[in-house]
Order: sequence, then C-alpha cells, then structure tokens
Amino acid sequence: MKLTDEEKTILDGRVGLARQKAMELLVRYGEALGAERLVQTNNVCISITGLAISRINSDISTTNINSLIAQFYLDSEVPVEMPRIKTHTCRLIREMDPEYWQVQGISPKAHEINLLTENMCGHAGMQLMHTCAPYLVGNVPVMGEHCAWIESSAVIYCNSVLGGRTNTEGMESAAAAALVGRTPYWGYHIDENRRGTHLVEVERQPESVMDWGLLGYYIGEIVQENVPVINNIRNVPNIARLKHHGAAAASSGGVELYHIMNITPEAHNIKRVFGGKKPVETLKYGPEERKQAYRNLTSATDDTVDFVMLGCPHYTLEEVTNAAMLLENKRVRDNVSLWIFTPKALKIVADQEGITDIITKAGAYLMTDTCPCIGRFSPKGARIAATDSAKHAHYMPAILNIPTWFGSQSDCIEAAVTGKWQGELK
Ligand code: F3S
Repeated sequence: MKLTDEEKTILDGRVGLARQKAMELLVRYGEALGAERLVQTNNVCISITGLAISRINSDISTTNINSLIAQFYLDSEVPVEMPRIKTHTCRLIREMDPEYWQVQGISPKAHEINLLTENMCGHAGMQLMHTCAPYLVGNVPVMGEHCAWIESSAVIYCNSVLGGRTNTEGMESAAAAALVGRTPYWGYHIDENRRGTHLVEVERQPESVMDWGLLGYYIGEIVQENVPVINNIRNVPNIARLKHHGAAAASSGGVELYHIMNITPEAHNIKRVFGGKKPVETLKYGPEERKQAYRNLTSATDDTVDFVMLGCPHYTLEEVTNAAMLLENKRVRDNVSLWIFTPKALKIVADQEGITDIITKAGAYLMTDTCPCIGRFSPKGARIAATDSAKHAHYMPAILNIPTWFGSQSDCIEAAVTGKWQGELK
C-alpha cells in the first residue's frame, strides 16, 4: 500500500504507540481488501462498548478501562493508553438507556461498566450521540465526504440519501480511523463502485413508512450486496421513509448504497447512474412482490402481543410526536410493554414540548441511547412482539427469539393498547 510521509511517520511510531497500532491495523485491513492507499476522513462513527470487553475480561475498572479498550479495539498484544482523538468521531448506539436501564433488565454491574465506558469515550474526545441515526442529530455528511461509519442503517443513509462515502466499518477499523483520520480507499469511496447494478421498476407506489420498509426489504433480498437503482417513484419520500427503507434493505440483503432516480443525489441521469453499462438484472416491484415482503417479515402467528417496539432506526421527532398523538387519552394494556426509541438529543425536545409526558401518562416509555437488539434485552417474559420496523421485525426473532408482527405505527399502538394484533396489509 502506498503511504504518504505523514502516514509513514505514524506507522513508524513517531506519534505514539496507539496511533502506530491503529495505522498497522488499517494497513493490514486495507491490504487484505486490495486498497492501494488510504483516504483522509474527518467523520467517524464508532461503537465502543464496555460490555463487549467485559465478556472477555470481567475485571474492568477505572484504572484499566482505557488500556483494555485500546487492546480490544486495536488488536494490540501489549497494553496501549488511548490518546485524545482529533478526528471528528461520534459514538453511536450503546447497550442501555441511562434512565431506564433497570426497566430493561440490565444488571447494576453492567450499568457500572457502561458508565465507565461512557466516561472514557467522552474524555477521549468522542461525541456521545448514542444513536444509530447520527444524521438526525447533527452529523450530516456533505456529498462526496469520505467517512468511516459503522451501523448498516446509518451507512446506507449516508451513502444513498446524503451522497457521503463510507463502507460499513467494523468496530476495530472505525476505532483505528478515529485515531489517525484515515480509512482504506476502497469500496464505496471509489466512483466506479457507486454505479447501479440492478434496475427496480416500481409498479406499486410506496406511500407510507411501512410501504417503504417493504420495498427496501424486498429489494435487499433480491440484490443482496449490490447497488439497486429504483425507478418510477412519483412522490418524494421524507426522512422517516428513507430511514426505514435503507435499514430494511441493509438487513435483508446487506445493501450499503441505493439510488432513486431523480431523488437521491447521484441519480439524475439513468445512463450515468449505471456508468454507461446495462443493469445486470431488471426487477419489477408490484402488489405481489409487496405481499411477499410482508409475508417474509411476519414471524408471529399468535395474535396476543405483549411487547411493542417502535423506533428502529431511532425515531425522528415527527415520528415520536405522531406516536404520542395516537396514545393521547389512551392507556397501554396491563402486561404489555410499549418501548419507543429516539436519540437523546431529540428526547430533550420532546420533554420540553410535553410529548414525553403524553407517552409516559399512557404507560409507555420513551427510551434513548440503545435498542433491544443491540442491548440484547426485552421486557421480562415477552413472548410475542410487534414493530413498525422491517429491520427489527427481521432481527427480533433471530436475536431475541421473539416471534414478531410487522405493521404500521398505528397498528402497533393499537396492539399496545388492546394486547391484540389486528394489523394487515392494506
Ligand atoms: Fe438502530 Fe437498533 Fe435498529 S441500532 S437501526 S434501533 S436494530
């Protein structure tokens, strides 16, 4: 791999051991990927979790956490002190809500480790965003900006909707990028790899958030890790629709970039979006394909629901407000848990607006910082779940072993209030 003089200086260890280890890791990683060089980045999204470390070394304390994190994330055999990070770095989702961790069934020990890690990350210079949707709370890359992000739903939003450039990084490669402000120049950093591969002709217009989730889920299953180009969308979708769409396509198939003709920033000319080549396949998305995606997303058969999860990816303020309006003057049924997830920065606004109060009075929780699939928690004894997120409907049965219904936000709130699933594909 070709390195600049500055990169060689880091690799030689002249700016400290941690940065040397980070550069070694990036060079190894880049060479394995066939990258010829690194590219500068000043936008890293990272996941550092003390709980992951504690599964390997339970003896975690204020005196060794810094060094343990460096060893764990930089693949170093010797202890390394983590220096202050200069690259703009956001810490994304973590394992628990800072206020409702006991409701989530988290142990005091895990909570203590979580606080230690938070403290360490804050002092290391990371922005403690604690959300999987950093673009909702101020990290909005500009078109062409090279980033190093983790979290598949954030990566696909960055690439497709914003025109930023990132691959789906791992915990270690993102930590290394944060330390040296570099990431391997490969994959979606390169123009040619951003060209469309599959053309999707839409015959059944997606209208709701649920519809956009279904479309994404269907496309992901077919194209897997390729780049779909969606044609014939008549109405411009909003943030919530695109957020759900991308998360669905990334979970059913591993899509990291899609284009929507005449809507997303790199899709204004169909020839150019395919780089002058023919699509490898043309797909049709009509009523039958929509039904198929709905069937594939539903894993529950028992209509008695006891857990409703909303906010995957984390809800926008508009989605939180809509949920509150549906809950106003209603009450979540006894023995049913309704947990709604949003970034903490947005919850502060919801608190000020009285929105959180409406949710709380209805017997639901507005939670932040985490989600059930990442934190591996659910309400005690939860048997059957419902969600408006295609991504969570995909993962909940696999990760938490809870059969799940998929539907609209109002279907889900109705289920929370009645304890019965009555949603259907309309
Ligand atoms: Fe976010 Fe968790 Fe969903 S990380 S995208 S709420 S699975």
